Formats: sequence, structure tokens, C-alpha cells
Amino acid sequence: MKMHLDEKIWLTLSFGMIMIFMFITGYQAFAFDLEPPSNKEIIDPQKVDQTAPFDKPGITKIGENEYEVVMTLQVFSFNPANIEVPAGSTVHFTLTSKDVVHGFEVAETNLNTMVVPGHIQKITQKFDKPGTYLVLCNEYCGAGHQLMSTTITVK
Ligand code: CUA
Repeated sequence: MKMHLDEKIWLTLSFGMIMIFMFITGYQAFAFDLEPPSNKEIIDPQKVDQTAPFDKPGITKIGENEYEVVMTLQVFSFNPANIEVPAGSTVHFTLTSKDVVHGFEVAETNLNTMVVPGHIQKITQKFDKPGTYLVLCNEYCGAGHQLMSTTITVK
């Protein structure tokens, strides 16, 4: 039986559409890869303690009103804990997890990120207003999750 021309056109079009949809969905799954978008650097989560800069977690003054905080997250703590910076400081956080997925949320700021083992998360925040800011883990990470908190004091 002979196919009508318009039937052939429709068949071709619908096949083309399927290919396009497959390409788009496949591409998106690949592009997002279920990881937070800023995670470009990777690290062996088993060797965090031996891997720079996480072999020396802490706070370093790197400029006028500018600090770098290298921090590890682990069940159920932040290291270093209870950091202090002068008011008006810009703080560059470099974070990683030593075990499971944790959250890093600083109350009263826009700081809120996932910290995924195997990845290095970098995030910057300026602290203008003096006060004590509560830092919380907002990803469920186990029995002590509710206890996982610390503070950032701005004076
Ligand atoms: Cu760490 Cu919840």
C-alpha cells in the first residue's frame, strides 16, 4: 500500500519530536547531574584530614576586612566552631563533609548550602551587623542532626 505524502511527513515529524525530547531530557539529566551547581572541585572524603586546605581547618585573615574560613562538617559538628569576625568582614567559606551530606545555613543571612562528601563548596558572605549568628545543619544527617549547630560572632 502506498503512503500518502502527508502521512510520511507526520511520521517523520513525530519521530523527530521524540528524538528532540530524548535529547533535551538526556541533556538536562547530564547538565544538572543531581549535584549543587557550584561544586566544581572534588576531594576524597576519606582523606579530608590529609588534604589541603582541610588538613588545617580554621580562620585566616587574608585582607582588609576579609577572612577565609576552611571548615569541615562531620556528624555532628562544624570544625572550627564558634568563629568570630569583626563587623564589616567579608568571609570566604571553603567547606567539605567528612562523612554524609550536611547543610550549612546561617540564620539571618542568605547563606544556605548543601555540603556533599567528595565535593568542595565555596561560598562568600559579608557580615555587617554585629551579633551572634546561629549556624545550622539543615540536611538530615543522623541521630544527632538536631544538635549539629555552632555560631558565628560578629563584633
Ligand atoms: Cu549535619 Cu544534619
